[in-house]
Amino acid sequence: MIIAVDGPSGAGKSTVARILAKKLGFLYIDTGAMYRALTLKALENKIPAGDEKRINELAAGVRIDLRNNCDGSLSVILDGRDVSLDIRQARITRFVSDVAKIKEVREIMVRMQRELGQKKDCVLDGRDIGTVVFPDAQKKFFIDAAPQVRVQRRFKELKGLGQDITLSDVEKDLSNRDKIDSTRQISPLRRAEDAIYIDTSDLSIEQVVDKMLGFIR
Ligand code: DC
Repeated sequence: MIIAVDGPSGAGKSTVARILAKKLGFLYIDTGAMYRALTLKALENKIPAGDEKRINELAAGVRIDLRNNCDGSLSVILDGRDVSLDIRQARITRFVSDVAKIKEVREIMVRMQRELGQKKDCVLDGRDIGTVVFPDAQKKFFIDAAPQVRVQRRFKELKGLGQDITLSDVEKDLSNRDKIDSTRQISPLRRAEDAIYIDTSDLSIEQVVDKMLGFIR
C-alpha cells in the first residue's frame, strides 16, 4: 500500500508522515530529503544552481539511502555518509528548490522513489507524490496550514536544530520556496483531485495523525 502525503513547506507533513508510517509499520520515505542530499552534493562540489548540466551528471551517479531507525527517526545517507543534519542547513534550504526544478533531476529522483516504494508498504511525503510519483496511491493527503503558522513552525524547528536565524529569514525563505515549488514547469506543487485536504493550522500533530488514520482505516 502506498500513502502519498503532499503539501507546502512547513505544513507539518514530514512529521505526520513519519509518525503515521511508524504506527502502520510502513517504510517512511522523505522525498524532500533526497532533493536536499543532492543539493548538498552539488554545493560540496561547488556547482552553482544554474549549472544544470553538471547537476544532472551528479544526480545520475548519486546514491541516496533512507534508513528508518527503530526510534522512528530517519537517517539520510549520501554516498555512504550520514548527512541527516547537514541537509537541514540554511544554505541547502536556499538552493534546494532550484535543484528540484530541473527536469532530469526530477526524472532520476522519481525513478528512485518508485523503486523504493515498490518494495514495501510505505508513506511518502513530498510535493508531487499523489500527482506524479504514485498517481495510483491508495490514499492521498494534502497537508496545508496558514502561511503564518508554517513560518512559526519552521522557525521553531530550525531554532531547535541550533540554527542562527530570524523569523523574517524563515518568512522570506518559505515564500520564495512556495513560489518556486508551485510555479515550476515540471511537477509543480498541486493537490491531486482525489487527495484528502487537511488544514493543520489549529490541529496538534496527534490530531492530524488520528484524522489520517481514520481515513486509512
Ligand atoms: O520538504 P522539504 O522542505 O525538505 O523539501 C525540500 C525541497 O525539495 C522543496 O523546496 C521542494 C523540493 N521537493 C520537490 O520538489 N518534490 C518533492 N517530492 C519533495 C521536495
